[in-house]
Amino acid sequence: MAMYNDKVMDHFMNPHNVGEIENADGSGTYGSPVCGDMMKIDIKVKDDVIKDAKFKTFGCGSAIASSSVATDMIIGLTIDEALAVTNKQIINELGGLPAVKIHCSVLADHAIKSAIYDYAQKNGKTYKGLEGFDPNADEDDHESCGVE
Ligand code: FES
Repeated sequence: MAMYNDKVMDHFMNPHNVGEIENADGSGTYGSPVCGDMMKIDIKVKDDVIKDAKFKTFGCGSAIASSSVATDMIIGLTIDEALAVTNKQIINELGGLPAVKIHCSVLADHAIKSAIYDYAQKNGKTYKGLEGFDPNADEDDHESCGVE
């Protein structure tokens, strides 16, 4: 565990926004092609603003810490702003992650987009940040997550 900084450890030991949202407006699940870990994010949306977000992560400490900060980050943002959140911003918010753990933050980034995609589908909406997004895509080249 020495590989993690204090902020990562804190979010891992005391994660924020754990659980599920009843009657969520959008729900997204993403499994990492790198390690097989899974993350589910639920969102509650009103007037295009994310009012609440909760997660369940079956994954490592950094995946849990990433979900915790990522859900904190998107609560209060508009959908467009939430779609612009990158895994790099999640890593910065955590004060850094070890290189082998970068893909864990991608799980959060992708699960957020999947939840918004679900919301958009259910409400007949389109968002610029979702162009080309495929919730079922298998990122087997790992290019987007920085894992060589
Ligand atoms: Fe795969 Fe962290 S999510 S090792």
